[in-house]
Amino acid sequence: MLAFILAAALACSPAPETNSTPQLSGNNIPEIVSAMTLEEKVRLIIGTSTTIEDVAGDVGNAGGRKVPGAAGATAAIERLGIPSVVLADGPAGLRISPRRKDSDKTYYCTGFPVGTLMASCWNPEIVGQVGAAMGNEVLEYGVDVLLAPGINIHRNPLCGRNFEYYSEDPLIAGETAAAFINGVQSQGVGTSVKHFALNNQELNRLACNSVASEDVMKEIYLRNFEIAVKKSQPWTLMTSYNYINGVHAAENTHLITDVLRSQWGFEGAVMTDWGGGYHGDRIVAAGNDMIQPGSRRFARDIVDAVREGSLSMAEVDACVERILRLVVKTPSFKAYKYSDAPDLEAHAKVSREAAQEGIVLLKRGALPVGIRSKVALFGVASYDFIAGGTGSGDVNKAYVVDLKQGLENCGFTLDGKVDAYYKNYMERERKRCAMVDRPRDGNWYIDKERPLEVVCEDLIASAAGNADIAIITIGRISGESKDRSVQFNYMLSREELRLIRTVSEAFHKQGKKLTVLLDVCGVVDVTSWEKYADDIVLCWLPGQEGGNAVANVLSGKVNPSGRLPMTFPRNYADDPTSDNFPEIFTDKPFNYSNYRNTRDGIVRNEIPCVDYTEYSEGLFVGYRYYTSKNVDVQYPFGYGLSYTTFSWGKMKLRKVEGGWEASVSVRNTGDVPGKDVVEIYLQAPEGTVDRPVRELKAFAKTGLLDSGKSETLRMFIPEYLCEYAISDGKLKSGWEFVPMKNALEN
Ligand code: GLC
Repeated sequence: MLAFILAAALACSPAPETNSTPQLSGNNIPEIVSAMTLEEKVRLIIGTSTTIEDVAGDVGNAGGRKVPGAAGATAAIERLGIPSVVLADGPAGLRISPRRKDSDKTYYCTGFPVGTLMASCWNPEIVGQVGAAMGNEVLEYGVDVLLAPGINIHRNPLCGRNFEYYSEDPLIAGETAAAFINGVQSQGVGTSVKHFALNNQELNRLACNSVASEDVMKEIYLRNFEIAVKKSQPWTLMTSYNYINGVHAAENTHLITDVLRSQWGFEGAVMTDWGGGYHGDRIVAAGNDMIQPGSRRFARDIVDAVREGSLSMAEVDACVERILRLVVKTPSFKAYKYSDAPDLEAHAKVSREAAQEGIVLLKRGALPVGIRSKVALFGVASYDFIAGGTGSGDVNKAYVVDLKQGLENCGFTLDGKVDAYYKNYMERERKRCAMVDRPRDGNWYIDKERPLEVVCEDLIASAAGNADIAIITIGRISGESKDRSVQFNYMLSREELRLIRTVSEAFHKQGKKLTVLLDVCGVVDVTSWEKYADDIVLCWLPGQEGGNAVANVLSGKVNPSGRLPMTFPRNYADDPTSDNFPEIFTDKPFNYSNYRNTRDGIVRNEIPCVDYTEYSEGLFVGYRYYTSKNVDVQYPFGYGLSYTTFSWGKMKLRKVEGGWEASVSVRNTGDVPGKDVVEIYLQAPEGTVDRPVRELKAFAKTGLLDSGKSETLRMFIPEYLCEYAISDGKLKSGWEFVPMKNALEN
């Protein structure tokens, strides 16, 4: 249809096929571009799913002809030997349809831990292993580009997509992204680092204007992308839905051409987010090469602008050339014979090991607990484990190991009465939730109904006499298109608080302990109940092997080594962005993406945090704020406990080409093997007020150190991350690099 529209618009017929028609190869792209008609060029720029008049294409079917469930694809232009390239989500695993019409074969993909857990590993090596496993599934299921990683900064704890993203700090986010991208691309497939940029809320995400100074963008919200591009050269990058200082991200020549390409040296192709941008000609002129999934309206914009001369053919050709440079790298172009049968068993092991690596021990009182202990397992999430978030970041996985199964697989015995209660209760709750969800099926922007937290007190009392330890899982989910509510998601419910308090009192009366597990999509309130729990373990959304990973940590088979990639404040209101972030006062289903329905390309400045969001905290986001303003926190950035202890030697620092090399010797002074993380911060001189007192500049994690063993960690600190503190190639007086355990403690 689009071809017809274009041909009509151009009043020309498609170019004839002759035997002298060049065929795309790796080294004749300029020749191919010259041989293409404008209609063919526009078809390549616009995604293939322009089957719906003037709205974003039918996401999820565009790749349908080859890989059902893929988010999109580029057009094939057979005349010139240009194949279609398949694009599919997402950051926690490949997202494609698990079943296909008239075939009983399944196409499940591995549900890996979410991005926030991967950042909690502080271990680029294991992130790379996850990337490679995920990249292999992309390759073997016939996909060319994985629409991941999502790396937007956790500006505020309530952003509905934070689970897909990494951190409040750009260095952790950038290094984790680079490791992931290199891992995926090691399999010969591409990635799409997203969403470029300042896409830090879901409310009105298609029309909200993020307002931030150039310095703040450079040092916080673009820095993560800069590190990722410089250390991994992602095949593609995805621009975001929002405006940035009044210019739409997809139409932003300054960010795409001046910063991304000219300053950082990005060599790949740029695509819009699905339905992102408003003017096809401005998108092309900005250097945003692909419009996904695109629509006829965008095609007409481009054709009309070329005809009127407001868009040059050279600008169109530049986009087409970059798309073709992407195409010739892809398995589709190389006609790779994909198996549709990746090694899911091997990848499940990778997923479990990564989940174990990113679990954070926040409080330790009784753990680890011997597997001969009898466990009273409370909390609906223990039996309905949350492995990942919702929206495009979801994965169609074959199974999820919940905590009950994980504990049993690990050898634990569960208290029979509690087990029987939840078996019966959860069966009823699953039926109730299914009835609530059914009418909303397909609207992934609406949270699924969750089981209610109900348990009777005499069951708790009897368990306290019968079991050795109690475990409660608190679950929280969130997803694309909706931010979290303080009241209904960040805070624990009355029922959850009552459960924690009642179990704590009953077990403490018997001299027994309580562990609380946080199976959550992001930061939640801990301060109001922390005193009731002897141990607090944070497993984020740990993927399909979550129950096994958690049980291995609780039993001590694995010594936890995760560190927080963001701050847990004592109160949400302490967060420096809490006055400049949307407040959601309802848990009713609502599509917040286009809250104001203003899909007209006009930036409005009427409603703060809806039409525009002021990043008025500036550089003082996350730990940069709490440490500089001496605001007490529940758990600081970089924090995490271990079942063993470590001592560090004095940091050695030497100036090298382009920066500094820091080395720190770490010794395991405890009696069980473990891993430790050294974090190097650049500390400002006493009395500095215009900059954060310290900022992370490097980090490294040891291997698994046996008791008494040491390892020297070497870290490179690049000058470009420290420009503000350098003069004549040296640190200005009073500035120093400090090795720390977390943002508060060295
Ligand atoms: C979504 C998301 C993006 C995803 C794309 C394709 O709306 O914002 O992250 O890759 O569309 O599903």
